[in-house]
Amino acid sequence: MEKILIKNGRLVDPANGIDKKMDILIEDGKVKKVADFIVEDEDANVIDADEKAVMPGFIDLHVHLREPGFEYKETIETGSKAAARGGVTSICPMPNTNPAIDSPESVKDLLKRAECSPVHILPIGACTIGQEGKELADIEGMKDAGIVALSEDGKSVMDSALFRKSLKEAARLDLPMFSHCEDKALVEGGVMNKGQKSEELGLPGITNSVEDVIVARDIIMSKEAGNRLHLCHCSTADSVVLVEMAKKQGLPVSAEVCPHHFTMSDDEITEDNGRFKMNPPLRNRADVDALKEGLKTGIMEVISTDHAPHGKEEKDQSMLKAPFGIVGLETSFALGYTELVDKGVLTLSQLVEKMSVNPAKVLGIDKGNLAPGKAADIVIADITKEYKIDSSKFVSKGKNTPFDGKKVKGRVITTIVDGKIVYKY
Ligand code: DOR
Ligand code: ZN
Ligand code: ZN
Repeated sequence: MEKILIKNGRLVDPANGIDKKMDILIEDGKVKKVADFIVEDEDANVIDADEKAVMPGFIDLHVHLREPGFEYKETIETGSKAAARGGVTSICPMPNTNPAIDSPESVKDLLKRAECSPVHILPIGACTIGQEGKELADIEGMKDAGIVALSEDGKSVMDSALFRKSLKEAARLDLPMFSHCEDKALVEGGVMNKGQKSEELGLPGITNSVEDVIVARDIIMSKEAGNRLHLCHCSTADSVVLVEMAKKQGLPVSAEVCPHHFTMSDDEITEDNGRFKMNPPLRNRADVDALKEGLKTGIMEVISTDHAPHGKEEKDQSMLKAPFGIVGLETSFALGYTELVDKGVLTLSQLVEKMSVNPAKVLGIDKGNLAPGKAADIVIADITKEYKIDSSKFVSKGKNTPFDGKKVKGRVITTIVDGKIVYKY
């Protein structure tokens, strides 16, 4: 197998307390050696990473690949290539496909389809059959088939008694529950954050309580069931308060924030267009600031994208009609670097913790670590030059983003999975 020597880069490997210029040698798919200086040997492919950051590949706990069932929006092939372009070396696809990933057979089918993927695919299984919220799925069978977590993403299991059953299964099988927190009855047709902007645009609003009451419920119910709980796409200030409360009680609760929620607030929505529509919605400035503060203090420890591709026509219409969701795999590092690191909220090392180290911890997998002997999942990025996000260049089928044209820093140059180069700028 190919030997790769990455020279002169700034190695940012928080799992080993490293943030300095070091060389790294990869052999047989693994990190072989890390040292201040490694002599070039003729059979190694040498990558000069001078002025670049070299980091453990990102792990995105929350993506939608749309296959099977919605291949016009995305396929496993296009979604996983988008991941590679974004420096993301492992992705967790959500089960809201058609059919849903709700049985051992569907998990096996997904893993078979995923053989074409340049990045690792770690599937998530649905809590209920068909995500209909009526009957518990075969969770143990799905675990045996290879799921790494459970989620009803796209919605919450609103029947609390049924949800309790899935939490107990999660606890028994040691699977984390990834909760999409949304009280369906409280949505009342809302399509964006409820506030001054929704009034200005004459659109029905989604209140913070839609999210907060289920965040509280899921923490309380997980405490009782004894499962690990991971709260998806937290968007409100009170979600941060509730997560802090849970952590103070020592509960195994983790929480993710998506780049769009820490980058943009609803007052930046310039028109009634689907590219600004996702669930949960862009919130107000105070919520955005609270999320950033939560990331800074460490209460919120994961950044994942909720990459949600849709067709062009579907999204290019009023928020009243467009589906919820924006793409994120090809912009997450740039937005994290630009909004958090460049603005002094996090160090680069802390950003890597939230994009690699902590997601691995949530799953309990041996990744996000570049010590010798570990798998060589690596991303090399230029963090010096500014450029504009160009959605026409996305390899994802989904071009639906509110960030097209935004000036950012942080460009992924090379992505390596198990010692193999899977993307090069
Ligand atoms: O914006 C979203 N899009 N939020 C969700 O919860 C689901 C997702 C999708 O599947 O499109
Ligand atoms: Zn969701
Ligand atoms: Zn989602």
